Amino acid sequence: MAASIKISPISRSSFDHHHSPIPTHPRFSTVRCSASHLSPQALTTLSAETLDPAPVLRSVKTFAPATVANLGPGFDFLGCAVDGPGDSITLSVDPDVAPGTLSISSISGAPKLSRNPLWNCAGIAAIATMRMLGVRSVGLSLSLEKGLPLGSGLGSSAASAAAAAVAVNALFGSTLTPNDLVLAGLESEKKVSGYHADNVGPAILGGFVLIRSYDPFEILQLDFPADRDLVFVLVSPEFEAPTKKMREALPAEVGMKDHIRNSSQAAALVAAVLQGNARVLGSALSSDGIVEPRRAPLIPGMAAVKMAAMEAGAFGCTISGAGPTVVAVIDEEEKGREIGDQMVEAFLVAGGLKAKATVAKLDRVGARVISSSNE
Ligand code: HSE
Repeated sequence: MAASIKISPISRSSFDHHHSPIPTHPRFSTVRCSASHLSPQALTTLSAETLDPAPVLRSVKTFAPATVANLGPGFDFLGCAVDGPGDSITLSVDPDVAPGTLSISSISGAPKLSRNPLWNCAGIAAIATMRMLGVRSVGLSLSLEKGLPLGSGLGSSAASAAAAAVAVNALFGSTLTPNDLVLAGLESEKKVSGYHADNVGPAILGGFVLIRSYDPFEILQLDFPADRDLVFVLVSPEFEAPTKKMREALPAEVGMKDHIRNSSQAAALVAAVLQGNARVLGSALSSDGIVEPRRAPLIPGMAAVKMAAMEAGAFGCTISGAGPTVVAVIDEEEKGREIGDQMVEAFLVAGGLKAKATVAKLDRVGARVISSSNE
C-alpha cells in the first residue's frame, strides 16, 4: 500500500511578483517573488476560481538535470545545470488515490528512499506545488526514477524536486511560473539539505542561476552565450560526503580579507558567465578561499585531484556542491576526457578511491516535460 498525504490548499495569490529594480539585459533576466507564500494564512485569501484546477492531462513524464552548486566562491548562491543523467517523474491522475492526496507508487534507482511523500524530495515538492495550485478534487500517483546517485554533490535531491514540481504544474496546465516552481522545490531542499536554491534553481530553470536574495526571494538567470564552448568534467569517487557533515565543517564567520577575496572571485565568475569566458570562469571557480579549504580535507585525495586537473590543463577545479564529486572546467570535450582520466587516477593514488569521470555540457533547458498522455 503506497503512502499518501492529504493536500491543504495554499494559494499562490499571496505571491508577490515584483518588477526587479535591476535593468533588463538580454543576457540577464530576473524574477522575484515572496518567500513567505507557503504561510497557512494564505488560505484566507483564496478566491474560488484560483482553487482546484481540473487536470489538462491524465499523465505526464518529466526530467530534471544534475546541477553543480556551489560554483566555488558562489557558495549557496551560484549554480548551473549540466546535461547527462538526471531524475525522471511520471505523474498520473489516479482514481484509486483519494482526492486531494498524493501517493508515491514506485521508486527505481534508489531502494533506500522513502515512499512516504512527506519524507521524499519529489513528494515534498509535488505537495508544495499542489498546494500552490489548490488541487483538491483529484488524487495523484507519482513514480520516481532516480538517475542521479544520492549524496554525490550533483544536486540529486533538487533534481527529484524539480521534476516533481514541473510534473504537477504540467498536469494542471502549467499556470505556475518557473519561479513558483523553484519555491516549491525549495520546500523540499529545506527539509533534506538546507534552505538553499543553488541546486533547485538551475535544475528548474537550466543554465546558470544566481540566487540574489532569499527574503524576498529573487533569482537571476545568467545566460552563457550559445556560441561559446564550456565543458564540465565531473569526477565522482566511491565515497560518501553527507551534505550535513560538509556544512558543519564550514566556519560560522569569515574575516574581511576572505570576504573581499571571495566576493571579487564570485563577481568575476558572474562576469565570465555573461561574457562566455570559460577560462576566467574556471579560474574564478577555482579560487574559493572559504568553503573549499574546509571541505577539501574531508574528501580523500581532493588536493591531489585538483592539482592533477590543473596540470592536465583545466581552467579551474573545485568541489561540486558539498562533494564528493569534483568539477573541473575546460572548453573542449576531448581535452575534458583527458583531464577526467588524470583526476580519476589521482583519486586512486592519493585518496585510495575508485572514481568515475563524466564530461558534460551546460544544460540550458532545465526541468522539462518529456512526454504526456490524455489516455
Ligand atoms: N550549496 C550547497 C552546499 C549545495 O554546498 O552545501 C549542496 O547541497
